[in-house]
Amino acid sequence: MTTPHGAILKDTGPEEGRPIVELRGAGKSYGNIRALHGVSLAVHPGQVTCVLGDNGAGKSTLIKIISGLHQHTEGEFLVDGEPVRFTTPREALDRGIATVYQDLATVPLMPVWRNFFLGSELTKGPWPVRRLDIETMKRTADQELRNMGIVLDDLEQPIGTLSGGQRQCVAIARAVHFGARVLILDEPTAALGVKQSGVVLKYIAAARDRGLGVIFITHNPHHAYMVGDHFSVLRLGTLELSAARDQVSLEELTNHMAGGTELAALKHELSQVRGVDVDELPEESDLTAPAPGTTGTTGTTEGKA
Ligand SMILES: Nc1ncnc2c1ncn2[C@@H]1O[C@H](COP(=O)(O)OP(=O)(O)O)[C@@H](O)[C@H]1O
Ligand SMILES: [Mg+2]
Repeated sequence: MTTPHGAILKDTGPEEGRPIVELRGAGKSYGNIRALHGVSLAVHPGQVTCVLGDNGAGKSTLIKIISGLHQHTEGEFLVDGEPVRFTTPREALDRGIATVYQDLATVPLMPVWRNFFLGSELTKGPWPVRRLDIETMKRTADQELRNMGIVLDDLEQPIGTLSGGQRQCVAIARAVHFGARVLILDEPTAALGVKQSGVVLKYIAAARDRGLGVIFITHNPHHAYMVGDHFSVLRLGTLELSAARDQVSLEELTNHMAGGTELAALKHELSQVRGVDVDELPEESDLTAPAPGTTGTTGTTEGKA
């Protein structure tokens, strides 16, 4: 079935249990710019909900609503079935919604364990001689990282010396330790190579296995499909596809991301531009499966610069 906004909804049946976080027809306008419109989404414990979409699709706007940075201007936002409207990220955090941003908000020159407790440092001793409980912080950080299967040689090393993937993992372990129920990851693999992306995907799965509801923002359908239980594709601020894993294939997901129909329209426009050989552009069907027997060479190259 489709929504009034034209989204393909493949998951209209009742899902197990109550979602922790839910959006119902939610949207957001910045002045007269409508960044998000009519988006419905449910995040269940122990599941990874992937939010996919090209640049400008509204992914960041969506997570800003859930993480308390922005407020929705239409529809509903519910936590544990109760309508909410957060005015600060602190309120979202108090409800167990933790967000790992791409820039990670770490202090590069501080040791790993110190970053793990940044803003929530443990102290000991009576006032006025309270001081940082360094021993406990180091031990706890070490234990929590190990619990997630993350082994670092030395927690004294500045976090800036870790790879991007390792830093993402520390941020995930940190959110788990501080009691997150929902973990939002904004494009955690965007700047990473293949191997490091794999490591981050592994810890996304680890967080899910510990019962967290994970919202994984990405524009990479392959990464999404490796860990996702549910897929929501945004395009120009509206939901274009919402499907559970068993209702969508990687090929379909890739096709939705690549914008099969948009490509066809673009091809038509380009056919009127001199110097562009539209026969060289992929067909819509090429995005789902390569046509058998195609060699990628065509005869008409006339007019090429
Ligand atoms: N603070 C803002 N003020 C005005 N427009 C914004 C603001 N933030 C985002 N937008 C617009 O909203 C749309 C969606 O942006 P965004 O949510 O950042 O997309 P994505 O994260 O998928 O790239 C874009 O057209 C963007 O220009
Ligand atoms: Mg973004």
